[in-house]
This record gives sequence, structure tokens and C-alpha cells, in this order.
Amino acid sequence: MAINVPPQRVAVTGASGLLGRALVTALAARGHTVTGGYRELPPPLSAAVTPLKLDLLKAESIAGFVGTARPDCVIHAAALTDVDRCEQNSELARAGNATSVQFLMKALAGAGCRIILLSTDYVFDGKDGPYDESAVPNPINVYGRTKLAAEEVVKNASAVSVIVRSASFLGIGAYGRPTWAEKLVTTMLEHPPLRAAIDQRSNITPIEFLAAAIADIVETRLTGLYHVAGKEILSRYEFALKLARLFGQGDDAIQAVSYRDLNRPAPRPLNGGLATRFPLRTPQIPLDVALVRWKTQFEQARS
Ligand SMILES: NC(=O)c1ccc[n+]([C@@H]2O[C@H](COP(=O)([O-])OP(=O)(O)OC[C@H]3O[C@@H](n4cnc5c(N)ncnc54)[C@H](OP(=O)(O)O)[C@@H]3O)[C@@H](O)[C@H]2O)c1
Repeated sequence: MAINVPPQRVAVTGASGLLGRALVTALAARGHTVTGGYRELPPPLSAAVTPLKLDLLKAESIAGFVGTARPDCVIHAAALTDVDRCEQNSELARAGNATSVQFLMKALAGAGCRIILLSTDYVFDGKDGPYDESAVPNPINVYGRTKLAAEEVVKNASAVSVIVRSASFLGIGAYGRPTWAEKLVTTMLEHPPLRAAIDQRSNITPIEFLAAAIADIVETRLTGLYHVAGKEILSRYEFALKLARLFGQGDDAIQAVSYRDLNRPAPRPLNGGLATRFPLRTPQIPLDVALVRWKTQFEQARS
């Protein structure tokens, strides 16, 4: 699609990740010059996207990435996103999610480049969500604390910045790495019943919508903090029931449990989610419509 704003040089970190892949695709389709930073697995091959190796744990690698891409805008989507793994290795989580952002801001100092940082609803404690942008964060796990630390680094730096908080992405994984929603379906179909927490709530965010909304932000002069997430806030149990009906299963394919019964290493914000008032140029489609599209992608990925 042709754009009616000047094309920009946009560097996306985590271009092999769920959001990163959607972002490089959306930005390239809008005519921007895109560099996709990846650690091991290159982003989708496209003449419009230049892949560039990047190790978040090394300051010199980040400096080299910025120096080679010479971006007008960096979208920092790379992170250690496995919440339970972060809980079990807090040093690595801090290095990957927070110290790396210090390196990035240092590399960007004086470059006149805008940064868009991806953050999460997990910066909140989940006592009384959904939360708007004025709510005070109080993370209850290592992942949330390291993401909040990254927000602080960006806020205190001199670069023009946007922080986008989002929640529970709905998409299809690549490189044999299924997303959490794909894992739910696989368990439901192969080892029913699927145990799903009735007391853990968040927005479900279709990934193409989020990528389009962030591409819109790239094309504006916005600064500050924004909650951008799917409109519908569901418990994991309610979401799993939707999946069961979508895949022709009875409701008995899902078993309601409490989050505590799942015995996960990291606590989660339970009554969480984000209130989203951000005025979007890209309209949201209803979750049920997004889910029908997602099911097609899920089946294609397995065929
Ligand atoms: N997933 C969600 O539901 C969710 C919700 C709210 C906010 N977020 C935030 O949104 C952003 C994107 O999340 P996502 O789920 O799309 O991520 P993802 O699929 O887990 O991908 C993470 C990306 O970060 C890269 N990465 C990890 N460690 C790295 C390192 N040391 N050096 C360079 N790259 C490294 C990974 O590279 P490899 O592929 O090589 O490992 C991958 O490209 C993150 O900031 C996350 O905190 C996610």
C-alpha cells in the first residue's frame, strides 16, 4: 500500500518474534525502509526488509545495529518474553529486558531518532484492572519488573520516545515455536480437557491489529505512553471456551481452574488488562472475526 507520509528508515528489534515479524511486514508494505534485527533466526525474507544480526546482551552489538541501520525510528520489540523463564533466571531477564535498553538509549543518544518501546500489562499487579495510562504500575513478577525498568530507562533518556503497552498477543509462531494460543488448541485437541484459569483476565490482542497500530504511530509525531490492545478482556477460561467452539469441541473440552491450580513458577496479574482509549487510525475488528482468521492461519501452518 502506498503511503501519504514520507517513508522513514525504521529499525525493528526482535524481527524474528511474533510482533517483530508482523511489524516488518506491515512497515515494508507501507513503503518504509525496514531493518529487522534478529538474534539467530532471520525475519521473513523480503526484498523490502534488510536483516541484521543483533545481540541485546552486548552493548557493541546494539551500537553496531544502530550505526548500520541509521534509523529515523527504532521499534524495540525484542525481549525475553517467557514469563516463567524470567522468574527462574532474573539476572538474564534483567540483562535482556532492561540493561539492553540502557545500551540502546546510549547508542541512540544524539542521533535524533525516535524510539518506540514495547511494554506490557504485566507492569500492573492485577488487583483492580483494567488499567489506563494514569494507573500506577506495581509489577508482581520478574518479567513485569524488568519491563517497567525498561520503561524508566526510556522515560529518563533524552530521545523522543513512545511507550506502547499491550497484552496477550494472538498470532501464529514461526520456526517451530508455537504461540500460547496455539499451545492451548493443541492441548485441547490432543489431551482434553484443557485446564484454563477462570481468575486470570487480560485483553486478547490480534497481532496484525497491533502491528498496524504501531505502524500508524510511526507515521505520527506522537510521544508518551499509550495502551494499545484488543478491546475484549476475557478470562483464560472464557477465551478457551471460544477456542473450543471455534474448533468444534464441546464446552467439556475445557476445565475451569484457578490460576494457582496451574502451579506456574511466576505469579501473574489476575484481574488485569488494559483500558484502551488510544484513538486508532486502524479500526479494530471484533475478536470473534479475528479468531476465525487466526484459525485459518493455524490450520495452514499445520498443513
Ligand atoms: N507476547 C505477548 O503476549 C506480549 C504482551 C504484551 C507485551 N509484549 C511485548 O511485546 C514485545 C514483543 O513480544 P513477542 O511476544 O512478539 O516476542 P517473541 O515472539 O518472544 O520474540 C522475542 C524476540 O526477541 C528476540 N530476542 C530475545 N533475546 C534476544 C537477544 N539476546 N538478542 C537479540 N534478540 C533477542 C528474539 O530473538 P530469537 O527469535 O532469536 O530468540 C525474538 O525475535 C516484547 O517487548 C514483549 O515484552 C508481548
